[in-house]
Amino acid sequence: MKQNYIHKMIEFGLLAKAGKVLDLGCGKGADSILLAQKGYEVTAVDIKKQSFEDPKIAFIQSAIESFDIKKNTYAAIIARNVLPFVNDKNKVERILKVMTEGLTEEGCMFLTVFGVKDDWFGKEHMSFFAEAEIDLIVSKLPIKVFEKNAMEGFGLTMSKDIKYWNVFSYICTKKVIR
Ligand SMILES: C[S@@+](CC[C@H](N)C(=O)[O-])C[C@H]1O[C@@H](n2cnc3c(N)ncnc32)[C@H](O)[C@@H]1O
Repeated sequence: MKQNYIHKMIEFGLLAKAGKVLDLGCGKGADSILLAQKGYEVTAVDIKKQSFEDPKIAFIQSAIESFDIKKNTYAAIIARNVLPFVNDKNKVERILKVMTEGLTEEGCMFLTVFGVKDDWFGKEHMSFFAEAEIDLIVSKLPIKVFEKNAMEGFGLTMSKDIKYWNVFSYICTKKVIR
């Protein structure tokens, strides 16, 4: 299940029991909808217009590069499969820093980037990272990595084509985990 990381954040006590959550590049909102069902007040951001029925989801149409993430505001910030669509790696690094600043003191975040073995590697308007490169960027953030996964293999795209995926994902937390 794609939302495993949300269950993991809850199971390991990384996610505050209530509060605001920011879903960057929400798409159709699988993550936003689940989090709203769990009672969080969700702000869902996407460059393309999306609509949600759940009153706990506030949709804002914006590029994540220009969305103003207010400091010390969110119990969780999610950037699942959206950072690869920001073509400037310096911008990706800046967004990650602003994401960490947007978390409350005990906040947690989830992010994915695509690796250089991904089938889409070399596509214009996208960014791809070598594993060591993204590890270094994440290690410099003022946040701890709770879990990192390196995934590669064939799988479906959102338009149901098959491609080779190479995805690095990180669950990060500001909380001290004993
Ligand atoms: C692969 S989908 C991921 C959707 C969702 N996060 C998920 O994991 O199911 C990527 C989404 O990012 C959005 N997107 C692409 N570039 C963006 C940008 N610069 N700012 C905000 N959203 C963007 C697309 O419109 C699309 O909805």
